[in-house]
Amino acid sequence: MTIQTFTTRTAFAPSPAVARVEATSRRVQQPQSSADLVSLAMGEPDFDTPDRIVQAALAAASRGRTHYAPLAGERVLRERLAVEIGTLRGRDADPADVLVTQGGTAGLAAAILAIAGPGDKVVVPDPTYSLYADLVSMAGATAVHVPLADDLHWDLDALRAALVGARLFVFCNPGNPTGIVHSRAELEALADMVDGTDTIVLADEAYSTLTFTADPFTSALEIPALDGRTVYCQTFSKSYAMTGWRVGYLWGPSQIIAAATRVHGTFNGSVNTFVQDAAVVALDECAADVVRMRDSYVRRRALMRDALASVPGLMLSEPEGAFYFFPRYDADLSSVDMVAYLRERGVAVRPGAEFGPSGEGRLRLSYAAGDKAIVAGVERMAAAMAALRSS
Ligand SMILES: Cc1ncc(COP(=O)(O)O)c(C=O)c1O
Repeated sequence: MTIQTFTTRTAFAPSPAVARVEATSRRVQQPQSSADLVSLAMGEPDFDTPDRIVQAALAAASRGRTHYAPLAGERVLRERLAVEIGTLRGRDADPADVLVTQGGTAGLAAAILAIAGPGDKVVVPDPTYSLYADLVSMAGATAVHVPLADDLHWDLDALRAALVGARLFVFCNPGNPTGIVHSRAELEALADMVDGTDTIVLADEAYSTLTFTADPFTSALEIPALDGRTVYCQTFSKSYAMTGWRVGYLWGPSQIIAAATRVHGTFNGSVNTFVQDAAVVALDECAADVVRMRDSYVRRRALMRDALASVPGLMLSEPEGAFYFFPRYDADLSSVDMVAYLRERGVAVRPGAEFGPSGEGRLRLSYAAGDKAIVAGVERMAAAMAALRSS
């Protein structure tokens, strides 16, 4: 049976907001693993959600927790999150300043659309998580990409220059795709750059439990000089292996959270009630699961690093956090063409250019994949790169 395209009867063109995103977006949808394709492309844990969380959701749904939740989130969850935030800050956080969101994605959307509009400049590191620039385009603001230094940390001089007059700076720590962890000193340098300005900082710490540096991770919430201008975005997706549950949160200055709540309530409505109940159980009872999964990533990271060391033409940098390697490669192909070439040889990875112009010449490989996929994927990559170099 042939399926015909179903076209509109009207003259349809996407709205200007969609057209702006389509004109600039670098995002690409990645395939799942299959018999003939090993995927090291996915940014999601291969672990199942811890059973306690699943059981909590099932029990909540059976109890009838299936009605609309309050728009800003369930009181119990917001209070519990305020405790987490207060612990990080070393000062109380008001539950009224917590917004429960449909994952980090909707938190980022609510924050960016609440803060930025036409005429605003929004600074993003380059490369970085590609959603930020798309949301900035959707908001009608202008994304300014600031190339990272060679070691994939911020180029502080370039950042300082770019931040002049900026409405917003958005970054992730640990970094996707770089696997870099920005240190306390870097965050303090950022605080110094924006001191006395109206620039707001959006700190996306989706991978904060996944760091492998000698120094403990420093949240932006721990930097007093960033307080009062920083919006904190967090998600249950990565730490608790809850990507499909769609739950995250924002915290920040009351007026900004009120504006973000307006956006989130308008676009998303409230987050699933029984999912919020399960999120409380995740926070209260699943710290050991977070550590267990983190320990697996430590092992997988070593497995992938050792395997990648034998791939010809790859220059590795040591990942400090998240679950990505972001090597340079030595070949005369764009990263998009390199990804297409590797896919023909049975391994899916992400092109560096997807994350910003300065990502060109690099590939992102995820070790959130299981051991077998890591070994098989890197073997295929090694064979493909060797063939490329001998051709
Ligand atoms: C840096 C970063 N932030 C936020 C997200 C969004 O995660 P979610 O919407 O699943 O919470 C991702 C997902 O890949 C990410 O890499």
